[in-house]
Amino acid sequence: MSTKLIIDTDTGSDDAVALVLAYTDPRVEVLATTVVSGNVPLALGLQNALYTAELCGSTAPVYAGADRPLLREAVYAQDVHGADGMGDIGLPLTGRVPAPGHAADVLIDLAHRHPGEITLVTLGPLTNLALALRKDPEIAGLFDRVVMMAGAGDHIGNIKPTAEFNIYVDPEAADIVYTSGLPLEMVGWDVSRKDATLTEAENTALTELGPLGVFCADIQRQLIVFCREVTKVDGIDFPDPVTMAYAIDPTLATEAIDAYVRVETTGTHTLGMTIVDRLGVLGEQPNTRVVLAADHDRFVAMLREACSRPVG
Ligand code: RIB
Ligand code: CA
Repeated sequence: MSTKLIIDTDTGSDDAVALVLAYTDPRVEVLATTVVSGNVPLALGLQNALYTAELCGSTAPVYAGADRPLLREAVYAQDVHGADGMGDIGLPLTGRVPAPGHAADVLIDLAHRHPGEITLVTLGPLTNLALALRKDPEIAGLFDRVVMMAGAGDHIGNIKPTAEFNIYVDPEAADIVYTSGLPLEMVGWDVSRKDATLTEAENTALTELGPLGVFCADIQRQLIVFCREVTKVDGIDFPDPVTMAYAIDPTLATEAIDAYVRVETTGTHTLGMTIVDRLGVLGEQPNTRVVLAADHDRFVAMLREACSRPVG
């Protein structure tokens, strides 16, 4: 039986690779893709998701969601992924039309239509999910899994010293999600940095696998520069793809703990930090399965297999 997925994304260049993993995997049925403001403004993220779905031959509807965080001004990462979010390589990312309806309503509707069956994979800020929870708190008991690229199990951030981008952009939304009672699983930026980094040569080698490999490699043109100059990883790290790979095959995780996690929403220097109570000093019940490590070789194998599949 295939895994029913909803994918919530802020469609940057690593999100798009995660979409390719999901859209082309025979073990997966994507019920919907919902888009949120994050890496790029909502309108661009929508076009990027629609383009990627078309490339992969996915018929799953793509819906627009929040065009800004719950309370704060929008924060983008076009310095990381390019102005268009897809490496600025000149892809035709215009003119595609999303399905009617708001992402938050789609999350609520599908959760009720498929109670206990859906894995929700979030790859961006948690604004759409928070809006859905505020509108219908009952959905907290209706998902099978909620697998998030979010935060950092080692408290090392990428946009701020202790804050990972998806949480930092909308910490209030993240706090709503972490206190909701949803069955949360978190793949932090630490896992991406340690276990989902491809060297530039490994990234280039994807182009030899077929048109999807060319797409996945070429759209990293800006991310490569950011990794080389800012985060100093040895190549390119793929946070959203390793999160999607884990959502599809949970055995990819080689280390995980159940912990109580909260989000800092007021810290002067720690705003957006995911505080993982690893020793349980607060005496609170765990609310999140925190993935701390993944199998690098199996992740790369999944990525290469997806890149070898035919376009839609
Ligand atoms: O911090 C990494 C996360 O922020 C990834 O999801 C990336 O796409 C950006 O959204
Ligand atoms: Ca993302």
